[in-house]
Amino acid sequence: MHERVEKILINTEEIQEAIKKAGKWVDSEYKGKDLVLIGLLKGCLPFFGQLISNISIDCIIDFMSVSSWKGKTTAQTLPLITQGITENIKDKHVLLVDEIIDSALTLKYIREYLQEKYKPLSVEIITLLDKPMGRKVSLQPIYKCFEIENKFVVGYGCDYQGKLRNLPYVGIFKEEKE
Ligand code: IMP
Ligand code: MG
Repeated sequence: MHERVEKILINTEEIQEAIKKAGKWVDSEYKGKDLVLIGLLKGCLPFFGQLISNISIDCIIDFMSVSSWKGKTTAQTLPLITQGITENIKDKHVLLVDEIIDSALTLKYIREYLQEKYKPLSVEIITLLDKPMGRKVSLQPIYKCFEIENKFVVGYGCDYQGKLRNLPYVGIFKEEKE
């Protein structure tokens, strides 16, 4: 276990099982529909990669890079889209793929931005982790693999200052005087 991890919350096997189930869910939910999966970089990466390998229906993938205001106390500015999509999503079904939803401020903004700018048929959210206690705006993912308590976690895409995304499990971050 990494020295900055207090305890493992969800182990590798549990995550992989849950992502298999999520892939099957996408298959049944979007069968016969034009599906575009949009991953939110960088955190989506491990979840996204594993999710698409568990999806059997035809789909297109794309990515967006968004800077959120995590770590600052108030959300005075809008999230900044530093890399937009390159695929055409008009009249298609969009599934935004993220590693964790906390306040939901970023995702709510992204969802509305995509809806207004590109007129897709639908924009839903699939997430590996959901912290419903952290919500500042109302937003429900259509699918979540795990609901977790309101603690700072790392691993499987979740970072602390850009690091620890590579941990093959989700762990509670160990706060330390630095
Ligand atoms: P929010 O839902 O707009 O608050 O932002 C979600 C983003 O904040 C995620 O994509 C992560 O980048 C980051 N985030 C929220 N909670 C955690 C956590 O527990 N660990 C690491 N990053 C987090
Ligand atoms: Mg993220």
